[in-house]
Amino acid sequence: MAVKAVGISKRYFRNGGTSNYFYAVSKTDIQLENGCLTAITGRSGSGKTTLLNMLAGLLEPSEGSVFIDDEDIYKMDDKRLSALRNAKIGVIPQGQTGLASLSVLENVMLPFYMYQKGDVEKKATELLASVGMAELKNAFPTELSGGENRRLAIARALINDPDVIFADEPTGDLDDENTKTVLEILRAAADSGKAVMLVTHENDALGYADKVYRMDGGVLK
Ligand SMILES: Nc1ncnc2c1ncn2[C@@H]1O[C@H](COP(=O)(O)OP(=O)(O)O)[C@@H](O)[C@H]1O
Ligand SMILES: [Mg+2]
Repeated sequence: MAVKAVGISKRYFRNGGTSNYFYAVSKTDIQLENGCLTAITGRSGSGKTTLLNMLAGLLEPSEGSVFIDDEDIYKMDDKRLSALRNAKIGVIPQGQTGLASLSVLENVMLPFYMYQKGDVEKKATELLASVGMAELKNAFPTELSGGENRRLAIARALINDPDVIFADEPTGDLDDENTKTVLEILRAAADSGKAVMLVTHENDALGYADKVYRMDGGVLK
């Protein structure tokens, strides 16, 4: 398996206090398999993003461990975890995350140039075309709609050909046609052997999934 979480939870203190905590995610075991698209649904505030961030190496759990290719990622130092995330994990976050000072094309190429040299422009251009963004490669993130920003994030997440893809409500602000495009890209990524985790509100997305979980009050069912 690609990602395995054992007994992970996340506690937060309420209202910035220091005594009264709650579980945003209760103790959870989950595995993301290669070639499998795992979908997670659930109401806003149920803990989906918190779980995704813990699995993606972005947020250390309060308890438990996350293994990627059998390595306990939160036992690594920051430098190694960053390099592993760059090479193996693609994250499509919620919201708009393009760097404002870089063009669309430069944003997509950026994860490649963090650790590698060479020419990645052709690949970045192809990825942008695959999400219908070919015409916008020289635009800047502030000039894009919400949906275009989201498609930029998808191309950026795929530039290093990651083994695992995490998509946090990637179709939330897309029209029907772009929603279908994005879900087909994620399905194709799973079919090519990647492990894909998709957080979604949309019921149509569930048709693309191999496994569906529901999150409710921090509990995964
Ligand atoms: N950094 C944080 N500090 C305190 N509470 C948080 C923090 N991040 C998220 N929460 C709370 O944890 C719960 C789960 O949030 P989240 O994982 O974003 O849910 P979802 O993605 O399902 O909407 C919510 O009640 C949210 O307010
Ligand atoms: Mg969320």
